[in-house]
Amino acid sequence: MNDTQKLLEIMQNRRDVRGHDFLDKDISDDDLEFILKAGISAPSVGYSQPWKFIIIKDKKIKNEIFQNFEVENEKAKKIFKSSKLYPHLKLEGIKETPLNIAVLYEQPKEDILGMTTMSKMGEYSVVCAVQNMWLMARTLNIGLGWVSILDEQKVLKSIKAPKNHTLIAYLCLGYVDKFKTEPELKTLKWKKEKKLDELCKVV
Ligand SMILES: Cc1cc2nc3c(=O)[nH]c(=O)nc-3n(C[C@H](O)[C@H](O)[C@H](O)COP(=O)(O)O)c2cc1C
Repeated sequence: MNDTQKLLEIMQNRRDVRGHDFLDKDISDDDLEFILKAGISAPSVGYSQPWKFIIIKDKKIKNEIFQNFEVENEKAKKIFKSSKLYPHLKLEGIKETPLNIAVLYEQPKEDILGMTTMSKMGEYSVVCAVQNMWLMARTLNIGLGWVSILDEQKVLKSIKAPKNHTLIAYLCLGYVDKFKTEPELKTLKWKKEKKLDELCKVV
């Protein structure tokens, strides 16, 4: 298999992994380093490298974040009240995973090349780092789940984030012995897969 096929296969086999699928095993320091190195290899606007990673192992902090999720998910349940499925979805793995990582964006103190017109490019750069981490985790048989049903300000307080930082992603990571072959929300018929020809237009 050549590099192109290998890379596409890793991308297509990456999954968002939720709390019912993790093994009870700590993530090794070497594997964590691979994931963080993947993160900081991402492209960033004006080479600003505006990312920070807060690694959360402390059970008390995880419990606080889980409570934050529960409050926000109750609000979400009301929004999706017509769905029989929503209340049964497992949408996080905060307590089931040995490691959570909050990926933060450090707001720049100076002008950034490339951000003078489009101000969201710094945040988008941090999302590039998250995607690199997700793909690297996949190669290490580490499942990663992105949790976004959280009150950002409360998360920042719980993790004692430095000033001038915002939350881009809250990630839950743990080893798994298998990955699902397609997105869970596709399997459960929450959403249909969009095909390439509906998504592209030549002008
Ligand atoms: C920005 C972002 C936020 C997400 N937030 C959540 C979340 O709060 N809970 C959850 O279960 N999945 C979350 N996901 C995972 C998506 O549901 C998942 O990526 C999608 O269903 C496709 O599945 P796959 O990642 O396994 O291919 C999030 C994904 C992204 C990119």
